[in-house]
Amino acid sequence: MNKVLFVASECYPLVKTGGLADVIGALPLALAGDGVDARVLLPAYPEVCERLTEAEALPLPGGKVLGQDGRLLAATTEEGLKVWALDVPAFFARVGNPYVGPNGHDWPDNHLRFAALSRVAADIAAQGVGRWRPQLLHIHDWQAGLVPAYLSADEIDLPTLFTIHNIAFQGVFPAAEITRLGLPGRYYHRDLTEFWGQISFLKAGIAMSSKVSTVSPTYARELESAEFGWGLDGLIRHRQADMCGILNGIDAGVWDPANDPLIAAPYSAEKPAAKARNKEALQERLGLEKDSEAPLFCVVSRLTQQKGMDLLLENLPQLLWRGGQLAVLGSGEADLEAGFREAAFNNPGRVATVIGYNEPLSHLLQAGADAIVIPSRYEPCGLTQLYGLRYGTLPLVSRTGGLADTIIDANAAAVQAGTATGFQFAPVTPERLRHTLDRAFDLWGDRKAWRAARRAAMQTDFGWSASARLYRNLYRRMLKEARQKKMGETR
Ligand code: ADP
Ligand code: GLC
Repeated sequence: MNKVLFVASECYPLVKTGGLADVIGALPLALAGDGVDARVLLPAYPEVCERLTEAEALPLPGGKVLGQDGRLLAATTEEGLKVWALDVPAFFARVGNPYVGPNGHDWPDNHLRFAALSRVAADIAAQGVGRWRPQLLHIHDWQAGLVPAYLSADEIDLPTLFTIHNIAFQGVFPAAEITRLGLPGRYYHRDLTEFWGQISFLKAGIAMSSKVSTVSPTYARELESAEFGWGLDGLIRHRQADMCGILNGIDAGVWDPANDPLIAAPYSAEKPAAKARNKEALQERLGLEKDSEAPLFCVVSRLTQQKGMDLLLENLPQLLWRGGQLAVLGSGEADLEAGFREAAFNNPGRVATVIGYNEPLSHLLQAGADAIVIPSRYEPCGLTQLYGLRYGTLPLVSRTGGLADTIIDANAAAVQAGTATGFQFAPVTPERLRHTLDRAFDLWGDRKAWRAARRAAMQTDFGWSASARLYRNLYRRMLKEARQKKMGETR
């Protein structure tokens, strides 16, 4: 078994603010079937500690971390995932969001908090925990970006794979903090951590890891362009030979309409009839008119510019005029929250808005809606369109990143061939979204064609097995290259 340490700031079901958590909660379990022993290091926020009541407390491999006392909480989740939660009360014993304080601003010491996570990962790489020592580190997003810097500073020679889940979140902090991170001043360098006069944890991860991946093939290509690279496209192009895109999968156990305790009635591709009962239950729960003829569109999303939700708001009159309903679950930017609240207030029975984060309700929405709208300006992978496919809730998406890679547009040829699974539009403009909403209403008018698309969507395989194998092969290649490098050095 190859031993791989995952390092990330979220992991479902222990702590989740978005898709990263779903990936970290599912991929290690999928890898187990492929001969990879993957374990997860994450911060022990209060909600994590609450869920790990059976954990065993172990000393930190490095004694302290960045001058703070702490311990590792070792546990195996109900799902069988082996985790180490980094319990450093000075950094993580804070109620609320992992990144943002009660005043809505990032915690001012986020650089120290997540440097601590990376520092401990490097200590585990050096010394192991008990008899378990990783052969490779798979690190995720900026919060784990300093891992290769610590490994390099300590001359620990282990391969690292850095996965970019979203290049817009870059972990940028004042340059003067470099020594407080416990890194030698020389690491503040334009080939390493320096980014426009500051330190970027994300840049460090991209620049210093053995290999870099992202969560869809299309996003991997997009990242090379100025439009999508957010100032790091030059570096991405520079690392092109070491870069790849591997599509996310979904946890088919957690997201299974035939066996989901969070929905009103089970159904499947073969027996889809009970989806209608979920629609009724959803309409009742949200105070929408119980109208089976009205196509019910839903949103389960962060309400942000990235997700293009302003475009949907702009098209609401059209959606309603054509007889649709809309159910929104999300939270995020104040103007978008206000916009969707107002839309619900002005259109009782036709639009419902729930502001907040609600995992159970997200399942009922996927089960009860007819379509899910995801008009993202960019989307590294996206998971909600994959849940939509599985639940027969046709994704209406912009043609970008992982959305482009996972949805087959219901154009005339695809409808004819029975392969359509949703709707795509490009470029990301209100006009194109309007046109595509119209196409969705037209297909809804042909119930036979809609049902065929729903069946094709539900039969799409987006489990983790194919992608887990790609990661496994990549790990093996990396380990082989590391061995060859070592042999070359000792010769
Ligand atoms: P991102 O990670 O960019 O937010 P993804 O589509 O990859 O987008 O993943 C979002 C995840 O968060 C999905 O599991 C989705 O169901 C969930 N989610 C987003 N908003 C909410 C919400 N308000 N309530 C419950 N789940 C949500
Ligand atoms: C990020 C991206 C999203 C992706 C998720 C998991 O949050 O915005 O597209 O699905 O990470 O990789």
